[in-house]
Amino acid sequence: MHLGVNIDHVATLRQVRYAGGMDAHNAEPDVLAAAAICERAGAHGITIHLRADRRHIQDADVFRLRAQLATKMNLEMGNTPEILEIALRVKPAEVCLVPENRREVTTEGGLDVAGHFDALRPTVERLHAAGIRVSMFIEPARAQIEASQRLGTEMVELHTGAFANATGEAQHAELARIHEASVFAHGLGLQVNAGHGINYVNIALIRTVPHLVELNIGHSIVARAIFAGLDGAVREMIAAMKA
Ligand code: PXP
Repeated sequence: MHLGVNIDHVATLRQVRYAGGMDAHNAEPDVLAAAAICERAGAHGITIHLRADRRHIQDADVFRLRAQLATKMNLEMGNTPEILEIALRVKPAEVCLVPENRREVTTEGGLDVAGHFDALRPTVERLHAAGIRVSMFIEPARAQIEASQRLGTEMVELHTGAFANATGEAQHAELARIHEASVFAHGLGLQVNAGHGINYVNIALIRTVPHLVELNIGHSIVARAIFAGLDGAVREMIAAMKA
């Protein structure tokens, strides 16, 4: 299982002080330095979300990271013309299409691929024409997986948020949904990734899901980095994924 580290919240910490003055010589923490540390610690990729409101990652971050990354960039984005044009100029290895709502604190729920099929089709086609692999961030539900496959995407990322927020029996029921979805998507020939709310505790359950190729993890790693350092936090998560 591969780890993509989502470094959005490194940028969040910078923006709370330096929004509007990101070019200041002392604007920190630096997302390029963070990405390099994650890569040296063994991360297989760096994930960033360029949101329409630019609340954390900025356009300049995307271009600078694209030039510097030794691994691959996974760019998360809403399906809007503005962000699509940027993605086509940046040409990340992968794009993950996500739903986006300005009022949300973080991405809530998966993308309704089945419901927005016609709007997503030209976006997927343009990304593919640029040589970019495409993923859909979806609920672990058959209809969404089938719609993603019909769109020709290479991957789906199963939303693990409901699982992460649940406890006890309810959490095991959510885990079963993810398990079933992963088997189904794999059977359709899709690469299966997962993300949202995965932490150092619930990774023990996520690890039991078959066919998962990549996990995208952000908040728990950046939070742990405050105490353990980013290098240690990434290494610890990779060890927990393998344990
Ligand atoms: N995957 C996707 C598609 C996301 O939108 C996010 C949140 O930005 C994550 C993974 C990472 O979630 P978390 O920060 O909860 O680990």
